[in-house]
Order: sequence, then C-alpha cells, then structure tokens
Amino acid sequence: ILDIFAQHAHTHEGALQVELAQYEYRLPRLTRMWTHLARQVGGGAARGGPGGVGLRGPGETQLEVDRREIKRRIAHLKQELEEVRTHRRLYRQRRRKAQLAVVAIVGYTNAGKSTLLNAISGSQVHVEDKLFATLDPTTRRVQLPDGREALFTDTVGFIQKLPTQLVAAFRATLEEINEADVILNIVDISHPNVREQTRAVEEILRDLGVTDTPMVVGLNKIDLLPGMDGGRVEDLIDRLPPLRNYPNTIPISAARGIGLDRLLARISQVLARDLVPITVVLPYKQDGLLTLFHQRGVVQKVSYTPQGVRIAGKLPRSLQAHFAEYIR
Ligand code: GTP
Repeated sequence: ILDIFAQHAHTHEGALQVELAQYEYRLPRLTRMWTHLARQVGGGAARGGPGGVGLRGPGETQLEVDRREIKRRIAHLKQELEEVRTHRRLYRQRRRKAQLAVVAIVGYTNAGKSTLLNAISGSQVHVEDKLFATLDPTTRRVQLPDGREALFTDTVGFIQKLPTQLVAAFRATLEEINEADVILNIVDISHPNVREQTRAVEEILRDLGVTDTPMVVGLNKIDLLPGMDGGRVEDLIDRLPPLRNYPNTIPISAARGIGLDRLLARISQVLARDLVPITVVLPYKQDGLLTLFHQRGVVQKVSYTPQGVRIAGKLPRSLQAHFAEYIR
C-alpha cells in the first residue's frame, strides 16, 4: 500500500508524507531483521567462530548505524513536513479570507471524485482507474447554479483499514474536511461492496469528528446500472441502509454528465440555508464588496442610484457585518 501511495504522490507534501510513513514502517522491522541476524552470528561465536562474549557482532553494529540513519531521516522529514504545513495553514487562512464556501468531496477510493471535479470545473485533475489515484487534495473554483462560487476540494480516497502510519500521515490532509461548509459524499453505487465502502467512509468521517456538517450524497456511476439512469433514487437507496437518513441524495454519472446540475443545485440549496435577505446601497468605489456579494451571496435585484449600486438579495450570516454600514 505504501508503495502504491509513493507512486501517486504528486505534491511535495504528499511525497514527504509517504517517505515518512515508509521509514516509520521500516524502523521496527529493521530492528527485528538485524536481531535475527545477530543471533545467528552469536551462535557461530559459541561454536568457537569469530567474535565472542562481550564483543559486538558485525550485524549489531550495522543495525545501530542503520537505525541512527533512519531516525535522522525521520526527524528531518518531520521538520520539512512541518514547514510545508505552515505554508498550507497560511494558504488556508488566505482562502478563508476570500470568504468562498468550501465543499469537500469525500468518498471511497475509485468512487469517481476526481472525475466529478473535472466534470463540474472543466479542468483536468488526474483520473485513473487505480486505487489511490488522489493522494493530494486538489481545489477548484466552481460556479453554482444560483451564481455563487464555491471551492470544491477533492480529498484523499478513503479505504478500510488504512495502515496506522498512513492515517497519521494523512490526518493533515483529511483535516481540510473539518473546515468545509458542505460535505459532498461520492458513492460508487455500482460497486458490489457499496455497503461496506459507505460504512468505511462514515466511520472515517466520525473519527475525524465531522458529524454536524451538512452532507450531500452523489450516487455515482448510475450509467453502469441498467434502467437506473432515470434517477429513481428510492431504488438506489434500497442498496444502502446506512444512507436512508440522508435527505440530500442525488443519482449521478460523473463520467457521462448525468444529474450534475441537480447535484450542484442541491449543494446551492444546502449552502443557501445560511443566507439572510439583505438590501444594500454600495458606493461605486466599494467594488470589492460588490464582487464579494456576487461570489458569496445571491443577487436578486440590481439598480443604479446616484449614491451607488443598490442590491437586493441574500448573504451568508457571517458576511452581514461587512455590509452593515450600507444596509438600506
Ligand atoms: P481515488 O483518487 O482513488 O480516491 O479515486 P476517485 O474517487 O477520484 O475516482 P476517479 O475519478 O479517479 O475515478 C475512478 C474510475 O471510475 C475512473 O476509471 C473513472 O473513469 C470511473 N468513473 C468515474 N465516474 C464514473 C461514472 O459516472 N461512470 C462510470 N462508468 N465510470 C466512472
């Protein structure tokens, strides 16, 4: 698993995380391997061979050298990762300042997350029919049907029983999910193990403490289910007892572009629950606020007055303060 991850690490951080996981995996095993060798050498000494009681066997010395080297490398990698994470934190803060809503795409590995992100953003994200194609989170700006923009983040594919080193290594990546406004859970509804996969994803979300964020579920690859592309969601949900409680479930095919408008419309609706009606008159020099209203809010009516642009519409509660002095 570590080797497959290594082949797919595209960013600097991904490569560092995998290298660290590999060394941390190797360290205790290396010890055992050398202990075994040292014992063999010791046996030779007892029969009158080279070495002897009180002397260090050649295997043991090599073991110490190797362990020291690996520990040094691990410390170095951890330090480098810390630097990368600091950069990422800064980047995240900047993104938060941009005030765009964040939609985190989660799902079992190979569910079709990258394909969906490509389909809705018109950009090329790495797509492969392999496990773990997405190692690093990719973010794209997407326009929603109500005119607002949101950032969609493709997270690492979840899989059951990830080695513990990897769970730790990817925690930082997965933490992006905690900050999302909406979770978009992509399920490969055509997969024979869809129940187990769905449960695995739910478990990881629970482990990450993501329990209150609103969720929209895309039941993907319906093109592979004959007769289902009419979108009879009830028939599909029957395959998934754990999903029964999710109200926002939309059948889609990311590859064929089926149901994507409905999916985005539902995401808009969920994000819109946080919107509050407002009417403002923005002085013409406040073009920053005008852009912000368009990106984060829903513009319903615009007129031009001598004092500025008059906009009636809706804005997220968290942004109301920015506009307070212009409310009419
Ligand atoms: P990881 O990076 O491993 O987490 O995978 P992912 O969830 O990003 O999946 P990805 O988008 O790489 O798609 C995996 C495979 O499923 C690719 O071969 C896609 O072409 C295929 N696929 C995605 N969506 C659909 C779909 O709607 N229908 C069909 N038939 N295939 C799809």
